Amino acid sequence: MSIENFISKKVASIPKSAIHEMTALSKKIEDVAFLSWAKPTSGTPDHINRAASEAILRGLTGGYSETAGFEELRVEITRKLQRDNHISADPSEILVTVGAIEGLSAAVMTAVDPGDEVIIPVPGYSTHIRQVELASGKPVLIPTIEDQGFKLDLDQLQDAVTTKTKAIVFSSPNNPTGAVYSEEELRSIADIAERNNLIIITDEAYEYFTFDGIKHFSIGSIEGIKDRVISTFTFTKTYAMTGWRVGYLHASRDWIAQIKKAHIPLCICAPVVSQYAALEALRGPQDCIDRFHSHYLKTRNLMCSRLDQLEHVFTYQKPRGSYLMFPRMIRPQDQDSRTFAIDLLQKARVSTTPGIAFKGEGHIRMSFCVPEEEIHKAFDRMEEYFSS
Ligand SMILES: Cc1ncc(COP(=O)(O)O)c(C=O)c1O
Repeated sequence: MSIENFISKKVASIPKSAIHEMTALSKKIEDVAFLSWAKPTSGTPDHINRAASEAILRGLTGGYSETAGFEELRVEITRKLQRDNHISADPSEILVTVGAIEGLSAAVMTAVDPGDEVIIPVPGYSTHIRQVELASGKPVLIPTIEDQGFKLDLDQLQDAVTTKTKAIVFSSPNNPTGAVYSEEELRSIADIAERNNLIIITDEAYEYFTFDGIKHFSIGSIEGIKDRVISTFTFTKTYAMTGWRVGYLHASRDWIAQIKKAHIPLCICAPVVSQYAALEALRGPQDCIDRFHSHYLKTRNLMCSRLDQLEHVFTYQKPRGSYLMFPRMIRPQDQDSRTFAIDLLQKARVSTTPGIAFKGEGHIRMSFCVPEEEIHKAFDRMEEYFSS
């Protein structure tokens, strides 16, 4: 039986993920230099693993928690939001989610009706686009200004607003470009949202990883716009907890009450064992964040200097945050990013992600959340590949 006729138009129209395609192709090749995942390669710190094991052994993890996440964790999250994001929150304004992704999905589902437009700056994280499409909304993609470090174009943003626009969704620090929106830009986004009666959904997954003296600013900390902002965060990047699937969002109590209605059919609650791990992550020593940060700074600088040596192949904007960069291919024969990435994989054994996956054709994404040797291995191979 062919299942084709049973698949919804929404799902059928979603293209296969280029990220997963590259992963599958990479697995078929031995000894690949792997720059294609945005996943921390360090393991979760031991004290977090131990706290989760203890919670299991104490029999605390076999049931559901409150839908919003257990109270002790939500209280700890409010302390972190006050200390690091300057967001004053009450535990009733927190929803613990299955990673940032489920929080974003639930938030988008809660806000978007069929046909509503949602503005997303690109290049951007394609999952945001899919979330809007799955909610039957219409993603409206606005280009960023590449030669100014993929800065947000506020005129484009204002011009993209129509009577159907409901929301703006963005990640800062950005995946895939590493751009970090400044406080000034974020205040301008907030003004545009107020003037046009829009909501703002943020993805702050890389909040702790900014460089060159640039500080992460949370738009949710701006006075008086609480009802318009849904801010999402995660333990995935900060504490190298990808597989635990735990994150959280902050919004007003009224928003949380509505978002919970989407959260319950998605997951009932975030995994309870992961909530215990998250509690320890927030309460325990924080030195892993500094350790990860200095590693990413070192590997960013290394990747940039190795890219400088390939100046006939790539130009790039130095990422100010995240652990990703998005070089542009300058040779005319390299403009199809998928063909380029597959050729690089098959001939040079270097795995990257084609820019088309992020609405950034003519680019590839490279991750520097890897050991320095991996970057050297990849660039030694690329130098040989491009010189032949
Ligand atoms: C911008 C961004 N948001 C969210 C995620 C995933 O977050 P989580 O693991 O918390 O669902 C990623 C992962 O790569 C990401 O790059």
